[in-house]
Amino acid sequence: MKLNRNDLCWCKSGLKYKNCHLEFDEKLSDLKRKGHIVPTRNLIKTRAQIEGIRKSAEINNGLLDLISENIKEGMTTEEINKLAHEYTVSNGGIPATLNYDGFPKSICVSINNVVCHGIPSKNVILKNGDIVNVDATTILNGYYSDASRMFMIGEVDEEAKKLVEVTKECLNKGVEAVKPWGFLGDIGAAIQEYAESNGYSVVREFGGHGVGLDIHEEPFVSHLGKRGTGMVLVPGMVFTIEPMINAGSNEIFIDEDDGWTVFTDDDSLSAQWEHTILVTEDGIEIIAR
Ligand code: MF3
Ligand code: CO
Ligand code: CO
Repeated sequence: MKLNRNDLCWCKSGLKYKNCHLEFDEKLSDLKRKGHIVPTRNLIKTRAQIEGIRKSAEINNGLLDLISENIKEGMTTEEINKLAHEYTVSNGGIPATLNYDGFPKSICVSINNVVCHGIPSKNVILKNGDIVNVDATTILNGYYSDASRMFMIGEVDEEAKKLVEVTKECLNKGVEAVKPWGFLGDIGAAIQEYAESNGYSVVREFGGHGVGLDIHEEPFVSHLGKRGTGMVLVPGMVFTIEPMINAGSNEIFIDEDDGWTVFTDDDSLSAQWEHTILVTEDGIEIIAR
């Protein structure tokens, strides 16, 4: 259905189309005509949806803060799961990973050579020197937010510390590469360059993703890429950037028994940080961190 200039805008702002997304839509059609990949309308969040995602992220951010205050040597990863579950539920949220595609827990905890999707267990104890990723995804009133952080347990050797720091910087560089009317490939290029210039490799099989109305939406956000390629990034898009960086090769395998845990093939260390971001008119907003 084609909107007329004086109709109300599709984004539910209450404004007339000509005073809202008309120019935006024309710009997108133009880019599409020139052969670029442009986001479909369902990837552009309305103001109310963005507000909902921000509220969800308040719980997700609070949860990761709580974990950072409590994580310590000797703790089991099941205890982290319990903290996460209880915090989320007591704040009115739902842990998005619990029963997602059969995932059995409320959070992912990935230690050392685990790349991602580590399943909390009462048999896994955090030990001195571990580097640990805790990845939280929250649903509140149907809105999703997603972020992860690295934690270093006790005395961590220099090599592992450097991987954690470079990976954090990879995320920052990916976020800085996001520009309204820029390209998805700008993100992957920035991350890949920085990781590889430090002698590390970038995991290819898993990436960031649109998020907000579901846990995983379009587009897939690769952490490798070429500038000026891929989907055009426009105000209102919400997605994650979550580079998984390996100290050795980027080959991975998935645990055959649990079907989830992703390991580095060469047993080398892997680190990951994740934000949920919103593309705005003049830059970005970090929503979940
Ligand atoms: N939070 C993860 C992500 O960043 C999703 C984990 S899905 C699970 O995309 F099932 F493994 F928990
Ligand atoms: Co996540
Ligand atoms: Co994610």
